[in-house]
Amino acid sequence: MTTINSAIDPRELRNAFGRFMTGVTVVTTMDGESPVGFTANSFSSVSLDPPLLLICLANNSANYDTFTQSEGFAVNILAEDQTEISNTFARPSDDRFAAVDWRQGPKGSPILSGVCAWFDCSMEQVVEAGDHVILIGRVAAFDTSELGGLGYASGGYFTRALETQAARAIASDARARVSAVVVRDGAVLLEGSASEGWRLPTANQSADASGGQRQRLSASFALGLNDFYIYSVYDNAETQVQHIVFRCRAEAGVPAQGQFVALTELERFQLADSAEQTLMRRYIAETSLGNFKIYLGDQDSGEIQEGE
Ligand SMILES: Cc1cc2nc3c(=O)[nH]c(=O)nc-3n(C[C@H](O)[C@H](O)[C@H](O)COP(=O)(O)O)c2cc1C
Repeated sequence: MTTINSAIDPRELRNAFGRFMTGVTVVTTMDGESPVGFTANSFSSVSLDPPLLLICLANNSANYDTFTQSEGFAVNILAEDQTEISNTFARPSDDRFAAVDWRQGPKGSPILSGVCAWFDCSMEQVVEAGDHVILIGRVAAFDTSELGGLGYASGGYFTRALETQAARAIASDARARVSAVVVRDGAVLLEGSASEGWRLPTANQSADASGGQRQRLSASFALGLNDFYIYSVYDNAETQVQHIVFRCRAEAGVPAQGQFVALTELERFQLADSAEQTLMRRYIAETSLGNFKIYLGDQDSGEIQEGE
């Protein structure tokens, strides 16, 4: 669908921007003796000579003055296992650094431990740009590691390691259960009933998988699927079954089975599998973060292991 200039709705634009894959960073600086930082995916390299990068900061940031007046900042590119750090630095908190290990970089800004890469910068330029300000940094020091980077797209996280793990599991284990969090207009597709319990829709074993899991699930649900990403891979210790869960958006149409349930109504739909229940809680939390609303509840991630 094409939206012409005069009719642009900022919320739709945010969703459109948010569909594409980016890395995830935590941008930091010092406020006197105190470290401050926020999660950002607006990072971009700018120039090699001189060495410049940029990050965009919302004008309504609690740390707007600190960052725009600082002499420098660091960009920490998060590694695959740092989704919790991303969430911490995207939520309001008195001390986002309380639970992370960090040190000051050569230019003085906080460098987080275990990151994929970091860039410690002096402030080159602060450019006002609409409802954000562009912080352009001159890289004074940087380091990279072999760690894979955390990815972000369509309001959720993903990792290359998780993709590889899923592909291996599907190839090597015929019993692997392939399911999906299929959303459309704020609702998620569920199968089952109140009496037998609800579950995420599963790929039909007989559906042709030669075109990949997206086509297999699409054929199983009789729905076109977009924005298709791996979401979780986990073992159920009781049943010895490996679960591979994708997340995607459904096009219009009536699903072959199951029904769409509004995410806001999900509390009333008890999922039979406690791991799926946990996974959906995590999904809702991440979706609200992706929409830049802040999730303030407890996130119980105990039963779902992130890919290594
Ligand atoms: C994945 C992700 C990417 C984000 N990217 C940005 C960004 O590029 N710029 C920004 O200002 N806020 C971004 N945010 C939102 C901020 O992290 C969030 O609003 C935070 O609470 C701001 O904190 P502050 O008000 O203390 O600065 C992002 C959040 C997430 C979860």
